[in-house]
Amino acid sequence: MHGFSYQNNALTCDGLDLQSLVDEFSTPLYVYSAATILDHFHRLDQALDGVEHEVAYAVKANSNLSILRLLATQGAGFDIVSGGELFRVIKAGGDPAHCTFAGVGKTRDEMIYALEQGIYSFNVESEAELRYLNDVAGELGVVAPAAVRVNPNVDAKTHKYISTGKSENKFGVDFDAIPELYERAAAELKHVKMRGLQMHIGSQLTSIGPFVEAVEKVLPLVKMLKECHGIEFWSIGGGIGIIYQESLESGDAAWWDNQPEAERPLTVERYGSELVPRLKDLGLKILLEPGRYIVGNAGVLITRCLYEKKGLAKTFKIVDAGMNDLIRPALYEGHHQIVPLQKPANEELHKMDVVGPICESGDFFCQDRMLPDFQPGDCVALMSAGAYGFAMASNYNSRPLPAEVLVEGNTSTLIRKRQTLDDLIEGEL
Ligand code: LLP
Repeated sequence: MHGFSYQNNALTCDGLDLQSLVDEFSTPLYVYSAATILDHFHRLDQALDGVEHEVAYAVKANSNLSILRLLATQGAGFDIVSGGELFRVIKAGGDPAHCTFAGVGKTRDEMIYALEQGIYSFNVESEAELRYLNDVAGELGVVAPAAVRVNPNVDAKTHKYISTGKSENKFGVDFDAIPELYERAAAELKHVKMRGLQMHIGSQLTSIGPFVEAVEKVLPLVKMLKECHGIEFWSIGGGIGIIYQESLESGDAAWWDNQPEAERPLTVERYGSELVPRLKDLGLKILLEPGRYIVGNAGVLITRCLYEKKGLAKTFKIVDAGMNDLIRPALYEGHHQIVPLQKPANEELHKMDVVGPICESGDFFCQDRMLPDFQPGDCVALMSAGAYGFAMASNYNSRPLPAEVLVEGNTSTLIRKRQTLDDLIEGEL
């Protein structure tokens, strides 16, 4: 489900006309639906009913303070990957005691900051990191709560850049090496307390198979760690995929839900019904680290067409957003649906490339795609841009970062100002 649909041929977010937001805040503009974020958070939470669990939102997907605050008010935990993300969570009113700290390269300063703030667990990714954490905690005279990320060597069947659970990926510790590592930690590392086990096999998984395979493979290991080392949690990671192609007809947002099960991408209800029975008798707290599922379909990037260029081979629509604003198509061949804010009267489709202003051939949002025609001055929305959209935006080509707006009920709030030219050079000496 998401909050974007056409009403009287105008694209709306929770009933609010997106063109009116463009008139107020200009383009490129990110717009998010609070109702969609909350719906997804609660749907996932409910899908895991039956097992003690906590949804720790993966902050990296979208770290705007207002979105973190929205989730904090619902009791979400947070999965962070840097001191900067922890800082944001705290500023947004999140509780460090419900934060897990992931990532292969935590620095000393980050460890100290997170220890001082009292996070729930450091999810470490190598023995070297665990030993270093032990040293840093020792210097501070504290005991660091920790979990090791196991690499289960399972194929997530997703894009190679976002697959993380195979032995050739840099993530986690080999499955077979885990028992001895926990033994050595218990015997030698007095300033870490092994609190859990973590795994995450990849992102944008659209079938249940790899999740089940990973859970079944790691289950005996988790049972052993509970028995021998008294661990209290198992984080099964994030990775739930979303639909990047959805019907936008009003009232038809649940279109996929009406498709036969076999043809339908993964739903959280399916995720829950497959995993809960496998996890419920473990007696461990299950953590989830979803990012994309919570915010992906909840956001769009609106951009205005500047020019049309008809070349020998192609028609290019040049828009005012670029790969610096949304890098997913360039980096992962990511598909984002492109739809006009004002639905054209005629339904003819035209083959076109929609491209940005950046001096790179990779700066495109689609190539040779059949789309309804639009003209310079018209606005289109790049759909499902709420996750890894703004969060991965940069100032490349000295372009100010776009503004962000959150729609809650029938009000819209600017939650991040558009950068100015002065913002661009702030900090330079
Ligand atoms: N936990 C860990 C340890 C992770 O590394 C990630 C994502 C997540 C949770 C959240 O995964 P999600 O539920 O969002 O799939 N920029 C890429 C995705 C990179 C994902 C990195 N790790 C994209 O735009 O597709």
